[in-house]
Amino acid sequence: MIQTTTTAHTNIALIKYWGKKDPVLHLPYTDSLSLTLDGYYTTTTTSFLAGDTDQVRVNNQVAGPQFFKRTQHFLNLVRTLNNSQQAIAVETINHVPTAAGLASSASGFAALSGSLNKLFQMNLSRKELSCLARRGSGSATRSIYGGFVQWHQGKDNSSSFAEAIDENPSLPIRLISVVISKQAKKISSTEGMKHAVSTSPFYAQWPQVVNCDMKAMLQALKTQDLEAVGKIAENNCLAMHALNWTSRPAFSYFTKETLQIINLVHQLRSRGYCAYYTIDAGANVKVITSLQDVAAVQQQIQLNFPQAQLTPLKPGPGIQ
Ligand code: DP6
Repeated sequence: MIQTTTTAHTNIALIKYWGKKDPVLHLPYTDSLSLTLDGYYTTTTTSFLAGDTDQVRVNNQVAGPQFFKRTQHFLNLVRTLNNSQQAIAVETINHVPTAAGLASSASGFAALSGSLNKLFQMNLSRKELSCLARRGSGSATRSIYGGFVQWHQGKDNSSSFAEAIDENPSLPIRLISVVISKQAKKISSTEGMKHAVSTSPFYAQWPQVVNCDMKAMLQALKTQDLEAVGKIAENNCLAMHALNWTSRPAFSYFTKETLQIINLVHQLRSRGYCAYYTIDAGANVKVITSLQDVAAVQQQIQLNFPQAQLTPLKPGPGIQ
């Protein structure tokens, strides 16, 4: 039996993707930029099955109905591309704590795309693979590559792909994942962004904000200016969440603890540490810091939030 396996790492967006202009092809309204992370990843193995029923397992258990449906939708797409009707077995091991609020769909669909590419012998380039992964989940587009990655919004299926900016960054950036809430988010990213696009009176401004932040971020990466990277990421994250606050009805992923961590990050910064934050579609915070300050920043956060679960992360590799 032929089995193919691929590992993909998750990524954190420093310039966020928040809104689709084409919800079927997952074409975003803007470019986005992320950092692939070393500690959190997904390994997926696929094989052909006799019979006509797909099998999907996650962490050695049969997948729940929602996970199965989303995976099968993607398998159907890949079957259509390959003119195939064969049933497929998918075995996924997620080394991404779902509670960490780091999108396991990013590493998940990147790993599934890589594995199916080998199984069907599609010989896709990494650029083509990023287009395929995009059809599973927007953020998966970027998890094909390591380090800093830019997703070009594009205007159709083949022009909306990601590209590595710097796969082995020498910038001494570190990230601390701060898990304060283990509760599953009430509004998925897919739903949240859809609602913001259609109801926030500020959504029309968002593409301009991203263009401006993207230019500044690319310049900051070029000049290896970590403080600027942190500042731009933090501002962009707040602009994204402002879209949710201004949706009608308004919603927010922030909790009391999210705001407390934000305050602490401000305090640490005023005490001279390199400390900025970014937050995705969940309550948990990711603190952007430097190799030099990571231990001290982690210690300070842990001291103030003994119940929080902290994980220091480094830039990670592309799919393997
Ligand atoms: C806030 O990629 O999870 O993490 O394309 O609907 O699957 P779908 O959404 P998803 O959204 C990620 C949103 C974000 C920002 C980002 O990763 O750019």
